[in-house]
Amino acid sequence: MNFVEKCILVGFALAINSWATSAPLTSTTDDAVPENVLNCATVMFSQPSVKFMHKLRPSDPSALLSVKDLPEGLRWNSRRNLVEGSIDKEGEYGYTIVVVHDSDTVEVPVSLTVSSALQQPVPFMGWLSWNVVQSEISSEVVRTVADAMVESGLADAGYKYLVIDDLWHAPVRELITGKPLPDAAKFPEGMGACADYVHSRGLKFGIYSDAAEETCAKAYGSYGFENIDADQYADWGVDLLKYDYCGAPAERDSALVRYKAMGDALKATGRDILFYMCEWGERQPWKWGTRTGATCWRATGDTRDGWRGKDGGVGIVESVAGMKDLWPYSGVNRFNDADMMCVGIHGTGKSSNDLVESPGMTMTEYATQFAIWCMWSSPLTLSFDLRNPINPDDLALITNPELIAINQDRMGQAAEFLFENSDGVQLYAKDLENGDVAVAVLNMSDQPHPFTIDISEIPALESGKSYHVRDLMKRCTLPDVINRMEAGELAPHETRVFRLSER
Ligand code: GAL
Repeated sequence: MNFVEKCILVGFALAINSWATSAPLTSTTDDAVPENVLNCATVMFSQPSVKFMHKLRPSDPSALLSVKDLPEGLRWNSRRNLVEGSIDKEGEYGYTIVVVHDSDTVEVPVSLTVSSALQQPVPFMGWLSWNVVQSEISSEVVRTVADAMVESGLADAGYKYLVIDDLWHAPVRELITGKPLPDAAKFPEGMGACADYVHSRGLKFGIYSDAAEETCAKAYGSYGFENIDADQYADWGVDLLKYDYCGAPAERDSALVRYKAMGDALKATGRDILFYMCEWGERQPWKWGTRTGATCWRATGDTRDGWRGKDGGVGIVESVAGMKDLWPYSGVNRFNDADMMCVGIHGTGKSSNDLVESPGMTMTEYATQFAIWCMWSSPLTLSFDLRNPINPDDLALITNPELIAINQDRMGQAAEFLFENSDGVQLYAKDLENGDVAVAVLNMSDQPHPFTIDISEIPALESGKSYHVRDLMKRCTLPDVINRMEAGELAPHETRVFRLSER
């Protein structure tokens, strides 16, 4: 930890001791904000002339919020506690959140970067090798999967990143230079040629490493070799690095230092390499991930191919528990990642079969997984075996353009989790750039339940107004609604998503 980081931490520790401070905080990092003041991001990003939205959440709902020093183009929406608008000119901007609690006032600085060259303006979409391929990864697999991504229409639907996960490595690095080497039997043509092939198909190429001596599967990691590895990745033409955390120290401060070392090394290459952190949400990376140069971070453990995990496994139930309240920390260029989707695996995976009662899900459950990942603005990563023909129902689900459009919405809002009712039905709403709102109802229970959407319970909508409704799962238009909308009877584990546009 350097001196500046130590000062921030000391300031942070002092600030959380009491509300009785009227001195403004000086640091614009998410983790400098005392937890008893705000529970939302303060390091924000936007694209020029694209609508921006920043929802503020006080830790104590009775605290009063306002903002000051807003740059031109942005306004304060006091009814919804959010900043909205758009800024045309690229640059570094800022404003101040004023939180009043009882008679105490805390001022929290926000930084806003407006740029047309953001690393991840919308969540990335692609395929990762881990869940089904594991140690069988090879350049032959990469070529076959690249071809399948293009020929199946997945690439046209937006799935552009082909990411090789763990176990691409030679047993050791190049002896003299320390450069990373791929396994020569798996990648006889070398990694650069493999990346070239992926690029020749109009796709992007991602690779995997770890912030310790060894990766999770015991290949060599990048700790101490960050610059050498980043330079080599750039030479190979790598476009994304998934950076894991097995074998590294548990504390958050070490994780910050180790991730930042790699983030800095990637930046120094001058190549646009998307930096994807994978420490499973254990140290709340949504509060410090932007400081490392990363633009998305895993928020949960590894997803398993089942509705409910067992012995600590992450099925859909556990993904929902881990993700639903993190939405105030998501935004453009800072996405919470819910891990690879298991849609399409149907119980035929490798690690995705562990820690789950009986691997495989129903189509209703896979549809819920896809829909809710879209609502959360999670990166959309497939992990089923693209060496085999794709089941047409799976393909229709994962290429549904209306669901993908809400995931890829340029305002980058994660769906706000509104509540779960006594039947176990959850309600989410996602603000979209054109003013529409995507509303999802998710039946977490094992019983069917009817559900009526009450417009007055959704802050993004207004009672008394008439809304045009698209059913995004069934892809049809429904009758207009005012005040209430019947979502129908939801089967166990079913999700329905509607897009409401003001008339
Ligand atoms: C885990 C990671 C998985 C996969 C695996 C490879 O830590 O969460 O997604 O990358 O390592 O060994």
